[in-house]
Formats: sequence, C-alpha cells, structure tokens
Amino acid sequence: MLERITVRGGRPLEGCAAVQGSKNGALPVLAACLLTRGVSVIENCPRLADTEAMTEILAALGCGVEWAGSTVAVDAATVRSAPLPRSLTSRLRSSVIVLGALLARTGSAVLAGPGGCDLGGRPVDLHLKGLRALGASVRETEEGIAADRGAHRGAEVVLSYPSVGATENLMLFAAGCQGETVIVNAAREPEICDLAAYLKRAGFSVRGAGSACIRVDGGGGHTGFVSHRVMPDRIAACTWLCAAAAARGEIELTGCRAEPIRAVTEELSRGGCRIRETDRGMFLSARRRFQAGGPLIRTGPYPCFPTDVQPMMLSVLATAEGCAAVEETVFENRFAHAAELRRLGADVETEGRVAVVRGVETLRGTDVAAQDLRGGAALVLAGLCAEGETRVRGVPHIDRGYERMEKTLSALGADVRRETAGDDTER
Ligand code: EPZ
Repeated sequence: MLERITVRGGRPLEGCAAVQGSKNGALPVLAACLLTRGVSVIENCPRLADTEAMTEILAALGCGVEWAGSTVAVDAATVRSAPLPRSLTSRLRSSVIVLGALLARTGSAVLAGPGGCDLGGRPVDLHLKGLRALGASVRETEEGIAADRGAHRGAEVVLSYPSVGATENLMLFAAGCQGETVIVNAAREPEICDLAAYLKRAGFSVRGAGSACIRVDGGGGHTGFVSHRVMPDRIAACTWLCAAAAARGEIELTGCRAEPIRAVTEELSRGGCRIRETDRGMFLSARRRFQAGGPLIRTGPYPCFPTDVQPMMLSVLATAEGCAAVEETVFENRFAHAAELRRLGADVETEGRVAVVRGVETLRGTDVAAQDLRGGAALVLAGLCAEGETRVRGVPHIDRGYERMEKTLSALGADVRRETAGDDTER
C-alpha cells in the first residue's frame, strides 16, 4: 500500500518528545556484532527499515537475531561467510560496513554493492583502498565485491577524506585482525565514538575515536555478553529543533545532548531561537520569525554543520526573514528537495553545490515527493509552515531514518498524519 504523510500547516509546535536512538550509530554497531563470539544486546536501537535490513543481513550470515521493542539481541556465536545478494545489500548504504567485520571474522566476504539514498556518486574506493592497505585482497566484480582477509598486517592508513563509512569499515576490520592499525584523517563523527564504545565493551582496544587519528590493536575481543546502548539520534534531534524553528513554538526534547549538534544549535540561535540544555535534554523556543542573513552555511565533516541537516535547514530558511546561502560540500547532489520546496512556494535556487534561499511569508500546501530520507523530512517540515494541506509521497525514504515521523510531530502538537495514498499517479 502506498502511503503518504499529510500535514496541515499553521500550528506552532508545543510539547515534549523523546529522541530515538541513532540510526547511523546503530548500523555500524550491529555490523560490529559479527566480531564478537557471544551475544550482544543493543538497546535504544531504532526500529527502522535500515536497521531491520541490517539485522536481516546478520541473520543471513548465521547470527541469531531477536528484537524486543527497541532492543535487539544478536547472537554471533556462529557466523558463516554466505554471499550477500543485492536484494539485501541494496536496502542500505551500511551493508558495505559488513565487509570489514565479516572479513575479519571469517576470512572472506562476497557482497553485492550497497544501496542508500541517491545523493550523487557514492563510491566505496576509500573503504577498499584502506582494506587493501591492511593486507586484504579485494576484487570488484560485476556483482559487487569479493574479498579475502589475506595476511593482515597492522599498518597506517591515511584516508584522503574523513569518510564516516570507510573509518567504520577499517575500525571493524582492524579490530578483528592481528597487529596495530592507525587510521589517519579518520572521521570524527560522534557515531564513530559510539562504535568505539561498543568495541571496547566487547574487549577490543580502540584509542583516539573522536579525533582524526584512531589506533586499533587487533586481536582482542571476548566471547561473553556485550551490552551497549546506542547514542541518541543527533540528526533526528536536529530535525525536531528545525521543525520548531520553522513552525515556531516551544519544545523540549528528551534523551539528547547539545554537544554533538553544536553547529546546528549555533545556526538556529543566530536566527533568533532560544536554545538551552535541560536536565532531560534540550529546550527550544522560537517565538518570532526566523532571521536569515548570517554567513554562508557550509556543510562538512564533523564538527561542521552536518550535511544530514542541510535539507531541514532549507525548510527553516524557506519562510525566514531575509536571504541565506547554503553550500553542500559533502555530497555532490543533495538538493533534490529544493525543487519540491519550490512547488510549495519557496524561493530556492540552486547552482552546483550552493542553494540560495530568499524567505517568503508563507508556503502553500500541495503534493510533493520525497526523493531521499532527509529531503523527505525537510518536505514534512515545510508542510508545517504551509497554508492548507501538504501531502508528501515517497514515505519509504522517510521511514528509513525516522521511527514514525508523524507520531513525534503529533506529540509536539502538529497536525500530521500518515495516510494510504489511493493513487500514486495523482499530482
Ligand atoms: C554517513 O554516510 C551517513 N550514513 C550519512 O547519513 C551521512 O550523510 C554521511 O555519513 C556524512 O556525514 C551512515 O552513517 C549510515 P561518507 P557515508 O563515507 O558513510 C565520499 C543519512 O541521511 N566518499 O562520510 O556513506 C562520498 O561520496 C545518511 O542518515 C568517497 O568518495 O558517508 C561523500 O561525498 C545519508 N569514497 C563523502 O565522501 C568513499 O570510499 C562522505 O561520505 C567513501 C566516501
């Protein structure tokens, strides 16, 4: 059944909502479960299309997987290196992270290419180059990737870009093999620290996560029980903060921290929002129209403004007072939502990697289509500021990253519901 998210705009947000566990934190941790020879209990694991796909991959590799609410238990006592078909790997980008862990655990891996949001070219050259530098033999085939562990030797790997996925893949491969690996120019995202925390609990030696130089002493690990609580989803937290900045109102988010989203809260504060940490999480008050006009907002690797929040920021700016420019430096093509925002009446122009947004008084609801996860979330947020009804199609994209987005927004007082779309050709 095709679904859509329908928003009736015009209501300020008021209330309190809990922030889900991090998708991008949970996925590498689930892949890391392959390295342990016992049971890992992962709490605060968001139940999403992507995390479910990852647990299906683990099951296909012989792991026992049991979900109970937002806790998933993974029994990796026995892991076999079964080829992973496209039907599994194409469901998410992080399927490629399985490569490092599976190689380290079983010595070989065969998997079809990864999926994920279409944000322009998303090569995996840095993953493969890094694995090769650590002694793995990796072949790219017509079907995907086939690799053997080889005689892994501890080595220094210098990433030419601090890729999140490549850093995770190399940490996992290095953890399961002998010798010391040093990853230079590693990604510093908080999710990398979360992965390191899991690995340490599982008995591996990882130092420097969160800095640009990560050291992994391979060959540790134990066979016992590992318990890990996934970090709060900083991108979901930013989504709700942007929602309130755009629609105005006062909200409290529980279960999240300010530090990992500093670049976003600074931008929202500059626009006039009052934001503070509370005992339980964070509070945002946006009583006036958002003020655009600060310096260029440039996305970049952590701790810069996150690319994953760029689409939602465009929605905030769409009805702001003034004009703003946003440069997307991480992905080559992450402005698909701009054209849909224009359908809602936003004045957004893109040229190459820069979007220029001139705020308008109000948007007008209509039918729009999500083309990727965060772009879809941005359209729902824009709907909150639009007159009349905004109907967002492409809901499976949104469900990859949010546990029922409409429920959280409804808890914050928005008029948002999920409907079955009778006819997907309308519009
Ligand atoms: C992770 O993707 C996140 N996904 C993305 O979140 C996020 O946007 C991205 O990091 C950047 O923060 C997960 O964690 C599952 P990268 P990843 O490797 O690991 C280029 C969301 O909405 N690159 O840091 O794929 C690449 O093309 C998603 O939740 C290479 O050229 O990101 C891109 O331009 C979307 N070669 C840049 O680096 C490589 O081998 C950053 O990619 C790898 C990457």
